[in-house]
Amino acid sequence: MKIYIVGVGYVGLVTAACLAELGHKVCGVDIDAKKIEKLKKGKSPIYEPGLEELLKKNLKNKRLVFKTGIDKSINDYDAAIIAVGTPEREKDGRADLYYVGETAKQISRHVRKKEFVVVGKSTVPIGTAQQIRDSFKMYNGTKTVFHIGSNPETLREGNAVYDFMNPDRIIIGGNKKAQQALLGIYKKIKCPKVVTDTKSAEMIKLASNFMLAMKISATNILSRVCDVTGADIDKVTEGVGLDGRIGPSFMKAGVGYGGSCFPKDTKSIRAIAEHHRLDTSLFDSVIKINEDQSKWFLRKVDEMAGLTLKKGKIAVWGLAFKPETDDIREAPSIKIIEDLLEEGAEINAYDPVANVRDEFGGKIKHCKDMYEATKNDQILLIITEWDCFKKADLNKVKKQMATLKIIDGRNVYNPKKVRSLGFEYLSMGRP
Ligand code: UDX
Repeated sequence: MKIYIVGVGYVGLVTAACLAELGHKVCGVDIDAKKIEKLKKGKSPIYEPGLEELLKKNLKNKRLVFKTGIDKSINDYDAAIIAVGTPEREKDGRADLYYVGETAKQISRHVRKKEFVVVGKSTVPIGTAQQIRDSFKMYNGTKTVFHIGSNPETLREGNAVYDFMNPDRIIIGGNKKAQQALLGIYKKIKCPKVVTDTKSAEMIKLASNFMLAMKISATNILSRVCDVTGADIDKVTEGVGLDGRIGPSFMKAGVGYGGSCFPKDTKSIRAIAEHHRLDTSLFDSVIKINEDQSKWFLRKVDEMAGLTLKKGKIAVWGLAFKPETDDIREAPSIKIIEDLLEEGAEINAYDPVANVRDEFGGKIKHCKDMYEATKNDQILLIITEWDCFKKADLNKVKKQMATLKIIDGRNVYNPKKVRSLGFEYLSMGRP
């Protein structure tokens, strides 16, 4: 099929590269001309394992092209996929649909076909696909029949290419024509396909992210119970996760979830419930526990720092919201560093690919390697569980640090082992 993807940010770009890899002819469109120029040269604007190889390969075999701005060439394609951003609205947590609306207008102004399939892939509130259909009628002014679909993505950053090609399921919402088009697009991917209406498809996305976020917040509050009772959260989640009705995934205690999805989508579904005057208490709890989890971590820093952090030299390992990405959106590291700076601490940070220069400028030091970051420091904080930290030579760290104190916000180390090296060691929900 010939597929026109509008918005080549995270979701749109991975979708474009993978659909081309599946054999489709794909055009990726974006308003950001600089990004498009970079993409035309096969350069990926985001750090995502395996993506740049796919871009280069499919640019070369001409299955993938990039353009700036929507134009009449859209009529050379069988379907369009809208993958533009839906940022969170500050004032009420609802998703901002400005870019989706603008894209719908643009598409309807250029399409001059008997019928055309348009699929929403951006994460949107329930009912957005129907609003899009109504705006097409309004702006198109011809007899074009638009078939609207909803095909929310379930990619994890750092795993996106693999997740796209090996999904647990594919969500296909829309009328008959849109469903057929989507089944055709994903014909080569063997997995369950949930075929439904657009509202249910949109809800599946928000509900999935809420359920996953809830599992993490439940684990984090349980880890605090472990902290005050002396139980071990890793043993607890092992025991709980073996119950087939619960399952082991997404029960890693830590400093809280971040990223561009969980924080935004939990607030988005909460705003929908509030709008309809429903009970929002469960949504509120999941959000509050997550926001408080970095404070619970900072309590451990205060506890280990003793009297004051003033002028305390602190090493921070990990800035990205999770490993294998350079993304720092809603990263717990930012809240934690903000608090430590307020308490007068000096921060030496290291992350393999991410940085927070825009957020903190020269207020913190970005070190060239993880060992440099620990030089003469009093406390080492683990904030993102990159493999390089898991494999770190703690004997080398021991020789560098001023005092041997580690607070592990991601439970990457074995407490006994680290303590046997002479470190004072605290982690999340483990004695
Ligand atoms: C998520 C969903 O997983 C994905 O399906 C959806 O399409 C987009 O949102 P992503 O945000 O990339 O993907 O990251 P994910 O791997 O889900 O992690 C989200 C956050 O939860 C990270 O901050 C991670 O550190 C945290 N997390 C995850 C935990 O704290 N504990 C866990 O057990 C799992």
